[in-house]
Amino acid sequence: MPRHHSIVTLSTLFLLALFTTTIQAATAGCGKAATITSGTKSVTVNGKNRQYIVRVPNNYNSSHPYRLIFGLHWRDADMGAVDGGSAPYYGLKNLAKDSAIFVAPNGLNKGWANSGGEDITLIDTIRTTIADGLCVNEKLVFSLGFSYGAAMSYSLGCSRAKDFRAIAVLSGALLSGCSGGNDPIAFYGQHGVRDSVLPIASGRDIRDRFVKNNGCTSQTAQEPGRNSNKHITTVYQGCKTDYPTQWTAFDADHVALPGDNGADAGANSFTIPAVWKFFEQFT
Ligand SMILES: *[C@@H]1O[C@H](CO)[C@@H](O)[C@H](O)[C@H]1NC(C)=O
Repeated sequence: MPRHHSIVTLSTLFLLALFTTTIQAATAGCGKAATITSGTKSVTVNGKNRQYIVRVPNNYNSSHPYRLIFGLHWRDADMGAVDGGSAPYYGLKNLAKDSAIFVAPNGLNKGWANSGGEDITLIDTIRTTIADGLCVNEKLVFSLGFSYGAAMSYSLGCSRAKDFRAIAVLSGALLSGCSGGNDPIAFYGQHGVRDSVLPIASGRDIRDRFVKNNGCTSQTAQEPGRNSNKHITTVYQGCKTDYPTQWTAFDADHVALPGDNGADAGANSFTIPAVWKFFEQFT
């Protein structure tokens, strides 16, 4: 066979492989009219009526597999708190600029006790419902949350590492269980050195689980002193390909979106671009 034929064959195979990979990541909701619109939805899980808010990007394109990002609320808050305010979805929604579908589920009793795994089941149900009704890149599904919502994102990292590309745990602790907990998953963690609600030791424990699972080289992560008005980020080295692991210790109490003045900086927090950059690196 003339050489240029094999080159043609090879490039065809390559394109086919590329095409197949793209198709595999796209969900049943791709290539058809959306059956889900932005707003509040209900679903029954384990006999309980549950709610969640979905935000479909403007100019939704049913041929484009979108990122899917779960924003989980903190204790005594609800889905509306994540969806609203000056920094919706912990500020990611403004940075995503219509490149992602956002979901804010409601916990039970304003928390994520995840009794018997019922909140994991809720999120499984929402994830598959969204993937059937909207075009999702199932390789680009994320969860983040603060406090109780961080604990639940951690729990997802423990038991659903194959369904989620990465999690961001903002001042979390072991409050929602950690079933499994042995799989690698890309991990962003942060915690205040002066956290008086969930001490930073709980954040370090979560981090260390994924440093280990992700095969990163263990190292001492520097933390800023109290009243240093600083944050220090450690990017772990030697982690398995596709499982970056990053940790930020900041000089503040129990806040979701810290600034360097020890207070909540809301939409101006360094956390927002940092988490977005972490999630956006996956394509
Ligand atoms: C819709 O998405 C597909 C796949 O990403 C892209 O090729 C196409 O150009 C998009 N259409 C519009 C109108 O943006």
